Amino acid sequence: MQMLGKHLLSAGDLDRAQALMILDTTAELATVTERSVKKLPTLRGRTVVNLFFEDSTRTRLSFELAAKRLSADVITFSAKGSSVSKGESLKDTALTLEAMGADAVIVRHGASGAPYRLATAGWIDGSVINAGDGTHEHPTQALLDAYTLRSHICGGQGDLQGVHVVIVGDVLHSRVARSNVLLLHTLGAEVTLVAPPTLIPLGVESWPCSVSYHLDDALMQADAVMMLRVQAERMAGSYFPSTLEYSRLYGLDAPRLELLKDRAIVMHPGPMNRGLEISADVADSSRAVIVEQVANGVNVRMACLYLLLGGAGSQAGGD
Ligand code: NCD
Repeated sequence: MQMLGKHLLSAGDLDRAQALMILDTTAELATVTERSVKKLPTLRGRTVVNLFFEDSTRTRLSFELAAKRLSADVITFSAKGSSVSKGESLKDTALTLEAMGADAVIVRHGASGAPYRLATAGWIDGSVINAGDGTHEHPTQALLDAYTLRSHICGGQGDLQGVHVVIVGDVLHSRVARSNVLLLHTLGAEVTLVAPPTLIPLGVESWPCSVSYHLDDALMQADAVMMLRVQAERMAGSYFPSTLEYSRLYGLDAPRLELLKDRAIVMHPGPMNRGLEISADVADSSRAVIVEQVANGVNVRMACLYLLLGGAGSQAGGD
């Protein structure tokens, strides 16, 4: 069996076989989620720590639920209300978790690279999973997006060869976009980024994707359109003249939805700014698979925990 490494830090660390193994394991574990008793004994006796230095709803809740469904003991630690707000360092926090015997640490941090530091500094022995670091990466989001794309466009099997994904909006501040570009490329999809020039990162030429400034043209080619949140909290200056202009040029609204191919889907990692990057009617339309992305997130995170911590010798479909 193709193995994963010890940690999951970047979508770019996964080769095609590893990525497919996670997606296939997700599909198997999804059958557990459909049962009335949604629980496997795989991680009984293991300790999983959710270490969240930045706000989160979906990612934190779904990692917590995923670990619980695999019977792990789960502790969720938010920086707010902890000794981190008294100035405790990442190192001291990590040493505390190590003393408590964490088998896996799921970390979200405002600093790009914090999960790498945690994985490589020797402070902890367990696996580290990156749940979003600064503007850098968010690999499990890319995996749940790939799973969602595969189930809608590819019949739930194989890779994403030939699928055209258009990613729109605040690419500059988006760890979701970075991880998606890497993983989608590994899985054979074609990616086009669409954003105002001020929200396209420097060095994008080296990314395995194309760039366009014209949303309408790109939409006509798309099998899926992934709208990104305008990340106002990461914007020190002003990146576009007004929110009205932004939504006119780069927002997805009902008239634009008409440009999409018949079966194209609309995605958003959440949280959404309804009325800015996506209109409320589009977010609630039958094309949108946004709630399904959240549901898939639990199963993908179960698969990651299962493969990183418990895979050997266990059966994903066991009782
Ligand atoms: C994203 C994140 O936090 O990076 N959300 C998520 O994990 N579902 C995207 C965002 O905040 O815009």
